Amino acid sequence: TNALRLGIAGLGTVGTGVVKLLSADADRLAMRIGRPLEITGVSARDRTKDRGIDLDGIAWHDDPVALARADNVDMFVELMGGEGDPAKAAVETALKAGKHVVTANKALLAHHGTALARLAEDGGVGLNYEAAVAGGIPIVKTVRESLAGNRIARVFGIMNGTCNFILTMMENEGVSFAEALAEAQRLGYAEADPTFDVGGLDTAHKLAILSALAFGTEVSVSSVYVEGIEHITRQDIRAARDLGFRIKLLGVGVETDSGVEQRVHPTLVPMDSPIADVQGVFNAVGVTGDFVGDLMLEGQGAGAFATASSVASDIVDIARGHVAAPFGAPATALKPYRRARM
Ligand code: NAP
Ligand code: HSE
Repeated sequence: TNALRLGIAGLGTVGTGVVKLLSADADRLAMRIGRPLEITGVSARDRTKDRGIDLDGIAWHDDPVALARADNVDMFVELMGGEGDPAKAAVETALKAGKHVVTANKALLAHHGTALARLAEDGGVGLNYEAAVAGGIPIVKTVRESLAGNRIARVFGIMNGTCNFILTMMENEGVSFAEALAEAQRLGYAEADPTFDVGGLDTAHKLAILSALAFGTEVSVSSVYVEGIEHITRQDIRAARDLGFRIKLLGVGVETDSGVEQRVHPTLVPMDSPIADVQGVFNAVGVTGDFVGDLMLEGQGAGAFATASSVASDIVDIARGHVAAPFGAPATALKPYRRARM
């Protein structure tokens, strides 16, 4: 057949969500793309785990790097996570072999995004990552494609579903931080190591990616000021409410005369502001452009299906032949990151 053949590495929360979406909507997707999508290979650690998905007839690879270079894979979908190997090695292998890559891995992109973008451009293949920032919210394409005519002054928002879920549960249900985090893990929102969520680093990864897209700079996560929500208590939340505020973990990127400022920290937001109303696993990302003005997108920031929606959009984009420069400009044209004096 003329099917586009996918290799999916990682069959956890997001990977199983993607397999379910692709099988539930196979005919509609084939109609939209003009040819069918076929999963020809998968990889995960435990071959024996019941994942609630049908993998009959799909080749199993213990080694994701072998999947990335398999002859019967046209597009490699990386849903394992982690900034290093095997995710990094597998993505590099796929790009060097001239295969398109779709990933949800913000840690990988925050640390190696510029170099990987260069590899993708050298090979003339796509490297798409809509799911890496704010789960189901289409913020990557919005900044890269829809707002390409603007000079962007600021990107900011709630970019971690686990933290927003914890803060909401602590305020509305009176549960402890530990109970709320355990529930976020049970629901599949948290990272494999949840200190990335609550310590603010996951938001920093997303902010670094978004800043590169917005300001045309190389990705620089080491320049982000990071403070998490681990020390926020129910008393802090109550005190904020008494003063007319809510506590939200925000990521903020601003272009200033002295460079780009990136910071992540708990923030008091006025109770009557739209961002204060963003509850539970929802995220909201605001952008200020010189021609468009202010806009904000809100939606589910984590979870199997919302994230699968973003992964599927990336697969469809590439399958339709849309191969964009990953950061909206050739990687060689991205400006070196210049940190603002704070
Ligand atoms: P997860 O549930 O922990 O799943 C990870 C998957 O990768 C598992 O299937 C695991 O295999 C497999 N894996 C891990 N190490 C491997 C290795 N060395 N070789 C082969 N397979 C390996 O994680 P997730 O929540 O789906 O997240 C996956 C990625 O999506 C991460 O980059 C995450 O940051 C990103 N993301 C997650 C969400 C979300 O809501 N969860 C949203 C947006 C983006 P086993 O199942 O056999 O252990
Ligand atoms: N752990 C992340 C979150 C997953 O809670 O937002 C989505 O990127």
